[in-house]
Amino acid sequence: MSKTAKPGVGKRICVIGASGKLGRYLVQHALERGCEVVGVCREKSIPKLDDLADCITIIGAHTDDRTAIARAVAGCDAVLTVLVPWGLNHYASGTAQAVLDHAEPGARLVFSCGWHISRDGKDVYSRGFKLVSAVVGRLAKLARVIDVADQVEACRRVFTSDTLWTVVRGSDLEEGAGQGLPVWAEHVGDPILASNRTRRIDYARFMVEAVDNDTLIHRAPAIVGRLTPSALAYAPDGQSG
Ligand SMILES: NC(=O)c1ccc[n+]([C@@H]2O[C@H](COP(=O)([O-])OP(=O)(O)OC[C@H]3O[C@@H](n4cnc5c(N)ncnc54)[C@H](OP(=O)(O)O)[C@@H]3O)[C@@H](O)[C@H]2O)c1
Repeated sequence: MSKTAKPGVGKRICVIGASGKLGRYLVQHALERGCEVVGVCREKSIPKLDDLADCITIIGAHTDDRTAIARAVAGCDAVLTVLVPWGLNHYASGTAQAVLDHAEPGARLVFSCGWHISRDGKDVYSRGFKLVSAVVGRLAKLARVIDVADQVEACRRVFTSDTLWTVVRGSDLEEGAGQGLPVWAEHVGDPILASNRTRRIDYARFMVEAVDNDTLIHRAPAIVGRLTPSALAYAPDGQSG
């Protein structure tokens, strides 16, 4: 791993799921911060990264491919993982486990997921959020498209690992120009999160900046856009600058 103490510059960062919407923003932010980037995405999605092919190293593989992940994370100071619960073959937990098992000792590991993941059971969800999560989760599983329970299992494994992890829990996402670093709370239900909206580009920024923020180690911040009404109304001083 690189010895630099400067944030970003000179670091080698692996982005697992680099070709997706969030993944591309992760790559963009990491490059802007002067990092060397290794991206993992499915073989068939490599063309989605054509415009970045000269700037990053791309490994074509499913993200739960342990051999490919071992190769991708070797020598990396940080691994940013887009955790997605596709299919019914334990894709999310397989991805998380591969990263946990193969990342360099001392590497910063940052994972994405949604507010529906609770680390300690102290999140307070609105009736509407619970209803939508239950219906969408059930329909997606019946259609054999998505297995939300496996994303829960993936995060459980991360939470119980002794790696230097952060799990960044995203609100509903939208596209648009960056508005700055999202604000966050320890638990869903905090009034600061009430607007439930974050720009995807800012979600990625939060994950990349988490690499250099040791106060986020072993935490699962729930984030919201910094210009949303709830953030503007409730952001504590430390997060409003
Ligand atoms: N969408 C939201 O509103 C929302 C809200 C809160 C949190 N999040 C979190 O944000 C993260 C990114 O989610 P996103 O919705 O924004 O999507 P996204 O960034 O577009 O990412 C989707 C990822 O899934 C991969 N993928 C798609 N179909 C697949 C398949 N059949 N098998 C394996 N991989 C497949 C994509 O890879 P390819 O490029 O190869 O297709 C891509 O890496 C996730 O961790 C999610 O839990 C999302």
